[in-house]
Amino acid sequence: MPAPDDFVVTPYEVKGKVDYDRLRERFGTQELSPELLARLHHLAGGELHPLLRRGVYYSQRDLGPLLDGYANGRPFFLYSGRGPSGPLHTSHLLQFDLCQWFQRRLGVPMYIQITDDEKFWARSGLTREETAHWGLENLYDILALGFDPKRTHIFFDSRSIAALYPLAIRVARKISYSNVKAVFGFTPSTNIGLGFYTALQSVPAFWPSWAEGRAVPCLIPCGIDQDPHFRLTRDVAEGLGYPKPALVHSKMVPGLLGEGVMSTTGNRADDALFLNDPPKVVERKLRAAFTGGRATVEEQRRLGAVPEVCSIWALWRTRFAESDEKFEEVTRSCRSGELLCGDCKGQLIERVHAFYETHADAREKAKSWAESAIVTEPPRPL
Ligand code: TRP
Repeated sequence: MPAPDDFVVTPYEVKGKVDYDRLRERFGTQELSPELLARLHHLAGGELHPLLRRGVYYSQRDLGPLLDGYANGRPFFLYSGRGPSGPLHTSHLLQFDLCQWFQRRLGVPMYIQITDDEKFWARSGLTREETAHWGLENLYDILALGFDPKRTHIFFDSRSIAALYPLAIRVARKISYSNVKAVFGFTPSTNIGLGFYTALQSVPAFWPSWAEGRAVPCLIPCGIDQDPHFRLTRDVAEGLGYPKPALVHSKMVPGLLGEGVMSTTGNRADDALFLNDPPKVVERKLRAAFTGGRATVEEQRRLGAVPEVCSIWALWRTRFAESDEKFEEVTRSCRSGELLCGDCKGQLIERVHAFYETHADAREKAKSWAESAIVTEPPRPL
């Protein structure tokens, strides 16, 4: 029997209550230290993204050397992705928010991988039509965050395979079955598509180096659950003659139902705010969401509430507190008992509605260039 505080995190499963410091130790990643944040702040012209300031990104691999290179005139590119299985929810945006910020502040290229094969292999309930459909829908939401059409390239696995495959062949030869079995916890009944898939997720990290015929450094912002894939990517990099990608990892966002991370696997549509939820549904989900409040108003006034366990506070923290002042005010007045959960939810609901409205417009605009950004040809055969 696992200990009660034990937890499991792989790209395909998150179980138990995650202790993020222990997870970092288990995975062997480094802290995203105040020194690194200060350097980022400086390189970005005196600004840090709220997700960096508020500790949502907390772990990294080789960010220091990547920043050294950048400071010495060696620009990098960004890479992140999404395995489509349904509509996006707000926490899926975290990695793309950070990428968009990097692109805007530093003018670097962005590669987005839409893995419409991955979730077809990983989840029995999805058809190919569904993963391909959601792939495009998710892509519009991602591009709507403000990516620069001139500097943004998309690998849509089933449609970009001719561009990816020459490198995937080489990556796959370096990864053994016992490797993927150990890293992802695959069992004898796992389909062989998923065993191969990790090779495809490595490819974009090397693609620009291959295309340009020189070492182009790569930075991957992602949820820490994706780190196992990139451990393999980093293990094979040198043997293939490419630089190891650097990573920055975020914590995962707690779900609205208050048990574990925001996820819609199974029958848990109310655990997440989907970007296509109509305003009434947003309101219903948020009104019903789990908080760190007390049993009665009297108790809450007296003892204060507990933001750290609250799914509503997590939303303020990761997206909806527009300024540090607002975030601090919500946190402080929650803890002191001044702010009651009903008021707090009401304020949040207004902001979520406003975001959905602007997002819907930006999404329509993104549709006009999404197709043309999909990479379909390799830079050269082989
Ligand atoms: N495996 C990721 C998912 O399940 C999708 C993905 C592909 C990805 N490439 C990536 C995520 C790079 C982060 C970074 O959503």
